[in-house]
Amino acid sequence: MRSLINILDLTVEEIDELLAVAEDIIANRSKYSEICHGKKLATLFFEPSTRTRLSFEAAMMELGGNVLGFSEAQSSSASKGETVADTTRVVSCYADIIAMRHPKEGAPLVASMYSSVPVINAGDGGHNHPTQTLTDLLTIKRKKGKLSDFTIGFCGDLKFGRTVHSLIQALSRYTGIKIVLISPDELKLPSYIKNDVLKKNNIEYVQTDSLEKVLPDLDVLYMTRVQKERFLSEEEYIRLRDSYILTKAKLKNAKEDLSILHPLPRVNEISTDVDEDSRACYFEQALNGKFVRMAPILKLLEITVD
Ligand code: NCD
Repeated sequence: MRSLINILDLTVEEIDELLAVAEDIIANRSKYSEICHGKKLATLFFEPSTRTRLSFEAAMMELGGNVLGFSEAQSSSASKGETVADTTRVVSCYADIIAMRHPKEGAPLVASMYSSVPVINAGDGGHNHPTQTLTDLLTIKRKKGKLSDFTIGFCGDLKFGRTVHSLIQALSRYTGIKIVLISPDELKLPSYIKNDVLKKNNIEYVQTDSLEKVLPDLDVLYMTRVQKERFLSEEEYIRLRDSYILTKAKLKNAKEDLSILHPLPRVNEISTDVDEDSRACYFEQALNGKFVRMAPILKLLEITVD
């Protein structure tokens, strides 16, 4: 593995290995504290971020490495018209590894073609977000003890939600996964994912617009924000943004051991009265994001621990 652009760049064995490294990091923090000494991670964020950028930076710092970078396109030479290819070619002279977020689908892939160091896709438009998927998988594994044989509901913006696309791709590699797609008609999962991922791999799935109806069947509920920044019309966004709001009252009919995930940020789609429910996992999920990102950093830098 030279770069991590798409979750499908990884085999199931490689995913399992990265999750095992993350588990070992959680259990043995001190073993890893100086392991990236002298190494630099560049975070090139052309789009807003809180968790992804800061957890990448915290991950590298906790491994004993350093970080540099920018958090908005306006403060980089992209604002002067520099291409992603040129920016990456130059930054790869200054850093040992790059994490890039970009509003254009495919930009991190282009970056990886011009970079002399590994590139990690930290989210490209409405396309993919592989390290969020590692975060989600680690969270499910720690909650359920397995990554097979469960029913997962994806609720909200399945059209533009890149975390949904990547997680569905990853789960299609595991066995016994049933997928429930919950969205308004306008925000349905793109047909390329339905055809190339779900149908091709014979994954059992259903589509509905009612969260209430399917909630009792779910082992995992993956809530998402309606992706305002991807809408062409603000009116359309306003009409759809509150399509689903999970409340404590609605959870009455859900399973006792349901795990509620959300990549965050949350806007309105999970009411704060759910936060204290033992089924809410999203803040733990954000913590897992820091640990899990250490694993691909180590793998791509080819650093191993005994
Ligand atoms: C997600 C993203 O950027 O795609 N956030 C994240 O990385 N945790 C989800 C979102 O912005 O809604």
